[in-house]
Amino acid sequence: AIEARVNALLARMTLEEKVGQLVQYAAHGASSDGGDAFAPNPETRTKVDSMALARKGELGSVLNLVGADTTRPFQEAALKSRLGIPLLFGADIIHGYQTIYPIPLALSATWDPQLVQDLSHMAALEATRGGVKWVFSPMVDISRDARWGRSAEGAGEDPYLGSAIARAYIHGYQGTDLADPQNVAASVKHFAAYGAAEAGREYNTTDMSDVRLRQVYLPPYRAAVEAGAATMMSAFNALNGVPATANPYLMTDILRKEWGFDGFVVSDYTAVMELTHHGIALDAAAATQKALQAGVEVDMMSHYYDTQIPALLKDGRLSMATVDEAVRRVLRVKFALGVFEHPYARAARAGESAAANHALARKAAEESFVLLKNADTQGAAVLPLDTHVKTVALIGPLADTASEMQGPWGGARHFDDFTTVRKGLEARMHASGGTLVYARGTDIASDSQAGFAEALKAASRADVVVMALGEAAGMSGEAAARAHLGLPGNQQQLLEQVVASGKPVVLLVFSGRPLVLDWADKHVAAIMAVWFPGAEAGNAIARVVFGDVAPSGKLTMSFPYTEGQEPLYYSTFPTGRPAGDADTRLPPSHDSTYVSRYIDAPNDALYPFGHGLSYTTFGYSGVHVSRATVPLAEANRADARNLVTVTATVTNTGKRAGTEVVQLYVRNLGASLSQPVRSLQGFQRVALQAGESKQVTFALGFPELSFWNAKSEQVVEPTQYTVWVGGSSQAVQKAAFTISP
Ligand code: IFM
Repeated sequence: AIEARVNALLARMTLEEKVGQLVQYAAHGASSDGGDAFAPNPETRTKVDSMALARKGELGSVLNLVGADTTRPFQEAALKSRLGIPLLFGADIIHGYQTIYPIPLALSATWDPQLVQDLSHMAALEATRGGVKWVFSPMVDISRDARWGRSAEGAGEDPYLGSAIARAYIHGYQGTDLADPQNVAASVKHFAAYGAAEAGREYNTTDMSDVRLRQVYLPPYRAAVEAGAATMMSAFNALNGVPATANPYLMTDILRKEWGFDGFVVSDYTAVMELTHHGIALDAAAATQKALQAGVEVDMMSHYYDTQIPALLKDGRLSMATVDEAVRRVLRVKFALGVFEHPYARAARAGESAAANHALARKAAEESFVLLKNADTQGAAVLPLDTHVKTVALIGPLADTASEMQGPWGGARHFDDFTTVRKGLEARMHASGGTLVYARGTDIASDSQAGFAEALKAASRADVVVMALGEAAGMSGEAAARAHLGLPGNQQQLLEQVVASGKPVVLLVFSGRPLVLDWADKHVAAIMAVWFPGAEAGNAIARVVFGDVAPSGKLTMSFPYTEGQEPLYYSTFPTGRPAGDADTRLPPSHDSTYVSRYIDAPNDALYPFGHGLSYTTFGYSGVHVSRATVPLAEANRADARNLVTVTATVTNTGKRAGTEVVQLYVRNLGASLSQPVRSLQGFQRVALQAGESKQVTFALGFPELSFWNAKSEQVVEPTQYTVWVGGSSQAVQKAAFTISP
């Protein structure tokens, strides 16, 4: 039925109306009378009046215009145009619309896809009240280099976890029926391999083998497409020399032909124009031709498609069939989304309560915190704090700020519903009759030590010091690559001086990426990564610090000892000269000098992928596989499932309840291509009372055991597998099985 509607409408459209569906402009400062002119293209400074285009029916979508009052006049204008094709309002709703929840990297640390789905659904419900039907989320780029600022926006370094989380976002945003007014279309970004930007430098080039592309970088995009993602966004980077925005291999061969994607692709902001900067297009016409032919249907802000397509058609450099196919894809999504039936989304539903949303945002923050270390010099746990502690000193530039709590791409339009760390801890101390002493100490990026004395005075009055240190929200996210990954400004000096006071210190680390915390690891009693927790920051931190709820987050990016180790990830490939990996089975044929290692830093992470402590401890036993041998003919089939069942027992060996993220890792030896030393192929969150044990089960089939061979085929070969089950990527309990020829 949708195809018939698409074709009928297409048949009535003029060229201008068709091209209009293929362009997207912002409407900065749009007022209800509309008509404001602005320059979408910083290069050409061309002014575009998006309201005038909407009136003429020559605008398909609007960028980052949100709110019932602001979107309505644009939609009214479009509906009054000749064909009345409604606009799509697309926006960067990355971690909440009204209720801001933790940044995506933090959400991934929950290892809780259902929670991610619930939060995305909540964002959709709120966004549709603001007229928005399309979100530029999820970002599913694998990020293995902490210097890359956009690590904050993704699910970290691992394709298996990244795929599970990608699916959760799509289900949460799009639901089971896109046409339901409460659902929004997702835009999976940034296609593809943007996270591999060389040296972690934003917008930089990427270059990799097809095997690596398919094995590491593509799986989360593919998972999102298989989950029904309606749209994709092309990336800024070039891949193997071809900019992603003009890359037919990515967008036509893989996305459309292999994966059967039937939605549309929008370029990233001015990415079509940037094809000239990449050096593959000499002018706007060539850039337009290359992008459209490769599979970018919508030009975000370049002002190229509308200016170039008519002439390209005239001189035969573009066919009408290509244009029609692009328009068809855009209309298909609009019909599927129900914007013809509900052009204002749920803009009338203004009065829905946000209270339950805050409860969910707080739960998300609590689950996202990763307890990195919790032992003083005697080995005693400092957290949770005794609820009767008399005086707590709260020190640091992140302690009393609401706006920094939202992190990058927060988009909060107000901060009155944010709880700062100070507010959260103050309420808590007040309730138990204790005192909170606060001192800022320093600014986030400052040289001045003017506040140090006050901070040290506060510490001297306290039984325990909580320090809120880390990055400013703007230090991660887009265009926020960092070459140094320590605490910014003079926060490290402040930390060292407070620790020298001898008081027990709990360090809360706010960041959008792994930071270098090696000094803190040696000298600070308790360290917890809290990322950017969103509106419920203070409440969630108070509840975890005082033990109402135990931390259960696990890292999804490796924390380095030093930035010189980047890119750093657990699923590394073996070398011919391993530096002490007991599982490589290589004889020690080289002394410890001529092995693959740094002479001045460890190879491993300070805090590895999957690491995260609780207030209790967990033990593993009885890792077992259901079969010792599986015939190749049975295993090497795309539809093979449950070939081997892995079981293990996890026990809460401590004194209080807690939740453990049980992780399954796999290694494959003897394949035609070298395989990673281990890769995640399963995980489960398991809640356990003190002393309780549970058996966990993982099923391994073709998706978990296969890899990409040199012919770009996904295969299982006759090889030997080791599986580990444990609480981090350094799990030790293992079992083995073989795929027989
Ligand atoms: O959605 C974003 C993208 O992630 C980065 N460039 C701008 C887009 C729209 O704001």
